Amino acid sequence: MTTALTETPLFSEIDRERLPHHIAIIMDGNGRWARKRRLPRIAGHRAGIRAVRNAVEACARLGVPYLTLYAFSIENWKRPHSEVKLLMQLLRQYLKKEIGELNQQNIRLGVIGRVRELEPPVQRDLARAIEKTRRNTGLRLTLALNYGSRAELVDAVRALARHLKQDGRVSVDEAAISRHLYTRDLPDPDLLIRTSGEMRLSNFLLWQAAYAELWVTQTLWPDFTQNDLLQAIIDYQKRERRYGGLGLR
Ligand code: FPP
Repeated sequence: MTTALTETPLFSEIDRERLPHHIAIIMDGNGRWARKRRLPRIAGHRAGIRAVRNAVEACARLGVPYLTLYAFSIENWKRPHSEVKLLMQLLRQYLKKEIGELNQQNIRLGVIGRVRELEPPVQRDLARAIEKTRRNTGLRLTLALNYGSRAELVDAVRALARHLKQDGRVSVDEAAISRHLYTRDLPDPDLLIRTSGEMRLSNFLLWQAAYAELWVTQTLWPDFTQNDLLQAIIDYQKRERRYGGLGLR
């Protein structure tokens, strides 16, 4: 697999010194992928796991320090119960099957979202996987589960208010809000990828992605390859990031 990634023509175009520090991905299009093949939606999610594996492995091998995947949004509960149930089963299978591989690749797993609202067996598997990869020092893989950016902001403001009540000297500024988000120990994403063509953030990392470079592809998530990831990084490296300033003119 190492060979496959390093031998692709795109690999040599990547400047390893200027990799995005944090890549976040909205994995969209599983349902459409399945519909095109007259398969049930869950077949799309299952195929999506392959793409997850590829993206995780590519980031680990390249040396990208942080990867965050939008795996289940708060809004996803509105889907039919059978689909939600199968998505949770897939997640549990992934956590059980992939642990060995994550450890082998020195990947540390984390989660963001209202995790305590997930079913207890899912929470248990997550806690176990997080614990078993805790000492790894390579890629930090974060799964956004039962995640919604507005809910995260509500939770952060509530936590900050509690803090303020205990200690009136706490100041309310951008740093204080960032410190109360689920992402408190992650840097802001530099590159935000969305598959399947939609041009929206869908309640994902709204605060954190303030200056992220957006990269949208028509490719449906199950078809997203390591080559697509390399292309996104190459395009990112061609952009000039100005953070609202004038940059180098
Ligand atoms: C969007 O496709 C995708 C999801 C709601 C879930 C993403 C989940 C996976 C890739 C599998 C599980 C992930 C992990 C990390 C184990 P969609 O169903 O909205 O597609 P559509 O817009 O074409 O209907």
